[in-house]
Amino acid sequence: MYKACITGIGSYVPEHVLTNADLERMVETSDEWIVTRTGISERRIAAPWQATSDLAYHAAEAAIAHAGLTADQIDMIIVATSTPDHPFPPVACQLQHRLGCRHIPAYDLGATCVGFLSALETAAQFIATGKHKHILVVGADTLSRVTDYTDRTTCILFSDGAGAFLLSRQEEGRDQGILHTATHADGAHFPHLYVPGGGSRHPQPVAPDTKAKIVMDGRKIFKLAVTSMAQTVRETIQAAGIDASDIDWLIPHQANQRIIDAVAEQLAFPPEKVISTVKHYGNNSAATIPLAVDQAVRDGRIRRGDTLLLVAFGGGLVWGSILLTY
Ligand code: COA
Repeated sequence: MYKACITGIGSYVPEHVLTNADLERMVETSDEWIVTRTGISERRIAAPWQATSDLAYHAAEAAIAHAGLTADQIDMIIVATSTPDHPFPPVACQLQHRLGCRHIPAYDLGATCVGFLSALETAAQFIATGKHKHILVVGADTLSRVTDYTDRTTCILFSDGAGAFLLSRQEEGRDQGILHTATHADGAHFPHLYVPGGGSRHPQPVAPDTKAKIVMDGRKIFKLAVTSMAQTVRETIQAAGIDASDIDWLIPHQANQRIIDAVAEQLAFPPEKVISTVKHYGNNSAATIPLAVDQAVRDGRIRRGDTLLLVAFGGGLVWGSILLTY
C-alpha cells in the first residue's frame, strides 16, 4: 500500500467583497449582530459571469504549479461541489478539458461541506492501491447562487470560493501523507439544512412556495456541528493512536467562529493552534478547508512535517475528519 501525500495546494476567491455593512442595507441586521454570532465580517461573491468551474480552475492551476507538475501528469480529477455549473456534466470534466489533461477519469462528489474531505479520502484509496499516482482534488462552491438574500438567518453566512490539493504517491524515504480518515452520514437530519427546489423532486422553475435556496434550522445545525466534529476528532485521534498534543494544527470547516471555538474548547485544543479564515471568507462549503490550509501554508504557519487534523460537517448530515502529515 502506498501513502498519499500533499504535493501542491492552491486556492481562489472571487474579487467581489460582500461586507456586513452591505448586508445591513439588504436585510434587517447589524455588523455587531453578525460578528458576535458568527465572527464573519466579509465574504467573497462570484461575479455574474463566474460559475463553480471558473473558481475551481484557478485553484487547480495554483495547486498544479505549487506541486511543480504539468496537467498531463495528473491521473484523475475529483471535484467536491454542491453547486455545479449545470446538473450535468460534472465540473470535473469541464476542469479536465480546460486544464488540458489527458482523457483521465474526472467526476464530482457531492457531500456538501464535507465534500473535500470525502474526495481526499477517495483519492487516497486510489493512490494506496497503486492505481493512480497524482490526483487533483478540488473543493469549489458558489453558495451565493443558492442563498436567499432576503433571509437574514442564512445570507450572512455563505460565500463562494475554491481550494485544491494535488495528492501524490509518497516517494521512497519520505514520511508524509494521509494517516487516517473517518467520514459519516445521518440522513435523518436532512430537513435541518437543505435546498428544497431545483433538483429532481421540485425541478426548475420551482413552485412559488418552494425555494431553490438554502433552508436552515441554525440552532439545530449549530449543536449537531459541535457534537459531530468533536466526536470525529476524538475518533481519529484514538484510531491513529496519537495524543491531541501531537497535532500541530486543527483546521475545521469554516462555518461560524462560535462553532470553531466550541469544538476547540470541547477538545481542550489551544486556540492558537486552530486555523480560522471565517472572518474574511465566510462559509464557502467544500472550499473552506483547502482555502484555510493554503493560506496557512503560504503565510508560513503550516510547514512541511506538521501534523494537521482537518474536520468538517455539513448538510446531509455529514461529518468527518482526516489526519495527515504535511
Ligand atoms: N441579524 C439580526 N438578528 C437576527 C439575524 C440577523 N442576521 N438572524 C437571526 N436573528 C434573530 C432571530 O430572529 C432571533 O430573534 P428572536 O430571538 O426575536 O426570535 C435572534 O436573532 C436569535 O436567533 P438564533 O437563531 O437563536 O441565533 P443564533 O445565536 O443561533 O445564531 C446562526 C444564528 C445562524 C448564526 C447560528 O445558529 C449558526 O451559525 N448555526 C449554524 C449554521 C451553519 O453553520 N450552517 C452551515 C452548516 S455547513
